[in-house]
Amino acid sequence: REEGLFYGLDLGGTNFRVLRVQLGGIEKHVVNRESREVSIPPQLMSGSSSELFGFIASELAKFVADEEKCANVLSNGKKRELGFTFSFPVKQRSVASGTLVKWTKAFSIDDAVGEDVVAELQTAMEKQGLDMHVAALINDAVGTLAGARYYDRDVVAGVIFGTGTNAAYVEKANSIPKWEGELPNSGDMVINMEWGNFCSSHLPVTEYDRELDKESLNPGEQIYEKLMSGMYLGEIVRRVLLKMSLQSSIFGNIDHTKLKTHFLLRTPHISAMHHDETPDLKIVAEKLEENLEITGTSLETRKLVVEICDIVARRAARLAAAGLAGILKKLGRDGNAQEQRSVIAIDGGLFEHYTKFRECLEITLGELLAEYASKSVAVKHADDGSGIGAALIAASQSQYRNVE
Ligand code: GLC
Repeated sequence: REEGLFYGLDLGGTNFRVLRVQLGGIEKHVVNRESREVSIPPQLMSGSSSELFGFIASELAKFVADEEKCANVLSNGKKRELGFTFSFPVKQRSVASGTLVKWTKAFSIDDAVGEDVVAELQTAMEKQGLDMHVAALINDAVGTLAGARYYDRDVVAGVIFGTGTNAAYVEKANSIPKWEGELPNSGDMVINMEWGNFCSSHLPVTEYDRELDKESLNPGEQIYEKLMSGMYLGEIVRRVLLKMSLQSSIFGNIDHTKLKTHFLLRTPHISAMHHDETPDLKIVAEKLEENLEITGTSLETRKLVVEICDIVARRAARLAAAGLAGILKKLGRDGNAQEQRSVIAIDGGLFEHYTKFRECLEITLGELLAEYASKSVAVKHADDGSGIGAALIAASQSQYRNVE
């Protein structure tokens, strides 16, 4: 039913995105959307809260200024409304506020922990003279669920396989012991699992993972995420290659400076090497040279590198599929001969761009769930689900909603 113009702001990876969505109500759904992506200067990821939010607000102000030139979008003196997708663990007691529990992924800004991130953003926007109201604070997994369910009621979960990983699903409110307030009318409630922080002695953690964790920004935390998400897969492969190179002569007599540099090998690089179909593995040679200054490798060595990428990506995909199967099991949608269709909406660069990760995830789901083969369970790519989801939730929380 939602109508009107809404803004989205998406902060969670190495870029942030500003987005404008025109909602056309029940028939037209999303009439128009525009977005702009801005990369976050690395020093801002570990600076101060006011610097980060100041930068974001100034970019948002630029985006809004462009709109002003082309349309008379703001009629009746309304404030612009924003859905803020903030993809980190938050303690959230109301729809438009939440305190940061801790940073994950590549962020570490100490003075923001424990603060209300909506208030920080609101202050930064005011400093920019930006007249905008934060109508909702949303996690990307929740936004993906909302955006996809808007189009398809059979969507039961939203999942992110990107820089980090997380899942949100719809639970019966009366199965949530932690909930103390009044039960919602629908009887349902969305759970943001923050599953990236899952840890268990059953996880296949190796010496490479242990060292990666120890040297990370958040040791001991986000272990599932560190085995499986885009921020870390390249880094795991780098660590394996380094050890092999130090213990053997596979790369010849090389200078190890690059190979020893944390995060120099990124997941898009290992994806490119993994998908190399040239007979002499030319792309593998190129990536090794460009990123790690390793030259003159033999075909045999390049094959070995591909195999390592395969092992690391396959482990990630199989663990990812296990998580999805876990949600369906919890929902009782993994049994035999389901009449109901269950759809899991997935977003994130790893799922979108790493074909072999995605293929292996789907094959594994088929192994774990008979329903996947029978098509009563499906996964689908929710393209920019979280941006649209954020605008939708903002619209549904709009302060003008009841006035109209
Ligand atoms: C990290 C964050 C989580 C987010 C996920 C995907 O796990 O803690 O909130 O949903 O990354 O971006």
